[in-house]
Amino acid sequence: MGTKRSLAPVVRQLVKDLEPTGSTLDLFAGMGSVTHELRRVSPVVVNDALDFVGAFSRARFTSGQRSDVKDVAAELFGIYEPVVRALRSRFAGRIAREDNAIKGTRQDLQEYMAAAPHAGSSARIRKLAKAARGLTEQSHYSMTTLYFSASYFSTRQTVALDALRYAIDTVDSRHQRDWLLSAWLATAGRVINAPGHTAQFLKPNTDQAAKRIRRQWQRPVWSIFREELATVCPVGPSDWRRKNRVTTFDALGLVADGRRLTNVSLAYADPPYTKDHYSRYYHIYETMYRYDFPGSTGAGRYRTDRSPSRFSLATQVVESFSGLLENLNRRGIPLVLSYPSDGLIQRVGADLEELVNEHMTITRHIRIATTHSTLGAQRDGVQKNKEENLYVCVPN
Ligand SMILES: C[S@@+](CC[C@H](N)C(=O)[O-])C[C@H]1O[C@@H](n2cnc3c(N)ncnc32)[C@H](O)[C@@H]1O
Repeated sequence: MGTKRSLAPVVRQLVKDLEPTGSTLDLFAGMGSVTHELRRVSPVVVNDALDFVGAFSRARFTSGQRSDVKDVAAELFGIYEPVVRALRSRFAGRIAREDNAIKGTRQDLQEYMAAAPHAGSSARIRKLAKAARGLTEQSHYSMTTLYFSASYFSTRQTVALDALRYAIDTVDSRHQRDWLLSAWLATAGRVINAPGHTAQFLKPNTDQAAKRIRRQWQRPVWSIFREELATVCPVGPSDWRRKNRVTTFDALGLVADGRRLTNVSLAYADPPYTKDHYSRYYHIYETMYRYDFPGSTGAGRYRTDRSPSRFSLATQVVESFSGLLENLNRRGIPLVLSYPSDGLIQRVGADLEELVNEHMTITRHIRIATTHSTLGAQRDGVQKNKEENLYVCVPN
């Protein structure tokens, strides 16, 4: 998600020049590259519509008590170990078939992956998911296996992820949980069988893809989680973190309602700019975070209640920008806006500067050439040259 890291220092300077007297609202914060840059400039209200992004933001940008990594790992391992053993024996048949497929030919792997039932394909598994949804004890913890095994992860990995989630859910402290869940999701991100985004998993259609699947599927969940516990750490000075807040609202609703904007003196917006929906690309992390056994659909096993961002819909993007600008203007909140020269707005034939000037006044415009990795790329690491614009917009 942090494809715009190079812009962040420029945004910091623009925000600084506006001399914020209160908090800066990062409306579409993603993985927080701009929030991070603002650590010596102003407190931040960190917003993103995805719940799992909120957990990462709270873990990194707010303050709270954390236990020592070694202590927490030891405590969690004691809870995790018997649960992972129980899950391995519950799914022993599937794990044995999978081990054979991993050792076998590419065709064996292909057949195994195509036939393995999951919540989106099998009435039997859906029934298991429905039964597990209502339970709070250990037997509830099978969602990752029922939804995402034999695809994004191996079954050995999903039982480990489920057992780990059980262990994490025994922890009461909210801040500690945010940290542990972020490390858990970061672990999933490191072992996942998918290109940069997670809209779909890779299938063994070539020898190279099969090799990659085998490699990813055998990556060890617990030891990677142990590493991620140390990686997901608080950033910025502690008195800054104490003043930050994290919200997970639709940006348009947040600025229209206004009740949560007390103390906000400035906004930064880096909205989606393509038709590609973040809710599709990052659906795995959202579903894993929510652990709510949703309806599952399509080859990517998406949650059925996924709502596309209005900034990514050709029919709604202009209206969404207008709503955002109008409400910020009405509340007297200046805006730093980031948007590429060939985003969806331009593709639907609108002129972004004209649109902004209908509601606010542009006082600065900076163009920056960036390379960025394409979200929907078929292959990893596809880089595109892009022109990015930063606009400083002040209320009329
Ligand atoms: C372009 S990315 C932001 C990247 C971020 N600036 C960074 O550097 O990591 C857009 C973000 O907006 C979020 N988003 C999309 N539509 C939204 C909406 N209507 N309200 C709030 N957040 C939204 C997505 O989940 C995604 O994280």
